Amino acid sequence: PHIIALIVAAGSGSRAGGSTPKQFCKVKGQPMLRHSYAVFSNRPEIESVVLVIGAGQENQAQAAVEGLPAPLLVTGGATRRESVRNGLAAIAQMGGADYVLIHDAARPFLPEQVIDDLLNALLEAPGAVPALPMVDSIARGTDILTETVERENLWRIQTPQAFHFSAIHAAHLGWSGAEPTDDARMLMANGLEVHIVPGDDALTKMTFAKDFSGKDMITSMRSG
Ligand code: C5P
Repeated sequence: PHIIALIVAAGSGSRAGGSTPKQFCKVKGQPMLRHSYAVFSNRPEIESVVLVIGAGQENQAQAAVEGLPAPLLVTGGATRRESVRNGLAAIAQMGGADYVLIHDAARPFLPEQVIDDLLNALLEAPGAVPALPMVDSIARGTDILTETVERENLWRIQTPQAFHFSAIHAAHLGWSGAEPTDDARMLMANGLEVHIVPGDDALTKMTFAKDFSGKDMITSMRSG
């Protein structure tokens, strides 16, 4: 199959603080987005990697992936959904694909096994996501807890999320619901099946400033 990876890295990263967008902050000595970009670029079955970035970030993005196969750069939108949609539109313009793997740059550490499992799952379903079971107790409430939620059959869903290209592209074009937090939800809204493959703690999203500090992680929150 013709497989393309799509990394969205056009967020402002404001929750992480600092003036450098978090996707360009250094994690383990490299700009965050370079980690997952390198993993996808090294996979022989993945033909190209589309990188969705903010307007005016072309030079920063090129520098971040220097020495790796050249990225296809696409400008993102105001929301994650729009950024993904722009990336899918660019792939459609290039002639489409059989499969697309949609990934958050904010999840730099991407295990090969997850990619293997996702691609296998696409032989049986139009969508597949890595997910981990809930281990904490789950409840609803504001300041006071009002309701316990059974954690059985609840999942923490990660990326990459893998799809048959035509199905996810159609789901994006037809979406009119509230702003979704991921793409699997949009496929499900079209009545299509999304399979679960084992997620990985390494895939946890880097969101807040504290995620960037730690023994091996170099924080570079200043500009440049
Ligand atoms: O903000 P959040 O952590 O949910 O973002 C998830 C991913 O989506 C990040 O990699 C971020 O760069 C990307 N994103 C984007 N365009 C936006 C907002 C977020 O590409 N407008």
